[in-house]
Amino acid sequence: MPNLDSKIVLVTGGARGMGACHARNFVDAGARVVIADVLDDEGRSTASELGENALFVHLDVSSEQSWTDAIEAARSHFGSVTSLVNNAGIELAAPLHETPVEQWDKVIDVNLKGVFLGIKAVIPDMLSAKSGSIVNIGSGAGLIGYENMSAYTSTKAGINGLTKTAAIEYGKHGIRVNALHPGIVQTPMLKDTMDSNADLKQILNDSVKFQAIGRMGETNEISEVISFLLSDRASFVTGVSLPVDGGLILGRATPLA
Ligand SMILES: NC(=O)c1ccc[n+]([C@@H]2O[C@H](COP(=O)([O-])OP(=O)(O)OC[C@H]3O[C@@H](n4cnc5c(N)ncnc54)[C@H](O)[C@@H]3O)[C@@H](O)[C@H]2O)c1
Repeated sequence: MPNLDSKIVLVTGGARGMGACHARNFVDAGARVVIADVLDDEGRSTASELGENALFVHLDVSSEQSWTDAIEAARSHFGSVTSLVNNAGIELAAPLHETPVEQWDKVIDVNLKGVFLGIKAVIPDMLSAKSGSIVNIGSGAGLIGYENMSAYTSTKAGINGLTKTAAIEYGKHGIRVNALHPGIVQTPMLKDTMDSNADLKQILNDSVKFQAIGRMGETNEISEVISFLLSDRASFVTGVSLPVDGGLILGRATPLA
């Protein structure tokens, strides 16, 4: 396991799903972790399970003021944030021409503007420290296309451009910025998506069936790679767009009979 001993990691969307698993993994690796989410009850309960090295703060990633408040709360409890995982996200399943503009805007605000605001919020302390590591969570769906997911795939594709540009701007200051694209992983978000749209459920099940590694991912399989990217073992890795997806985007494999 990579060593995150001296790290203070803020993980957005850390109350449940993959984010909660990431938080657990970071604490196990020695980090102090700030779980930041809009889900106050679940966030507090996840943090309290992890003990004194975890703190919950309320954060709406789409609000710049909320970021200012969360970073200040983290700083006064643990110190300056050294590492950020922009994991919070929402999904929207609808045909493009039936996607209401307000819902499109909401997905962009959380999934893409939220990542921009997160980077903007942590960079001043990282510049002072001349070090830092940021991991932005995209999606395999943003590296290809997915029927009925135009808003979601657009935000996840946008994360690539943001990540590469931030990596170029801040590499000279000792700050690394990478993007990690999970494949299909069983979480509350995936369940909601599958329950809300039968066509998309079929598409996702087919994706898994014809993947090189023909099963869904486990949350821990994503957390392990993020821990590596945050750690000093990844000191020469920046600007990558890394799928951790069981081969989702490779093309179809024939399943074993
Ligand atoms: N589950 C998958 O198959 C899958 C695949 C690829 C990528 N992803 C991405 O992984 C990340 C985690 O997804 P998950 O499956 O664990 O979903 P999830 O719904 O279980 O967790 C997402 C978390 O983000 C939080 N969140 C939502 N809006 C927020 C806001 N405005 N401010 C702060 N927090 C907010 C939610 O409250 C929740 O705790 C997301 O970015 C998602 O797009 C998921």
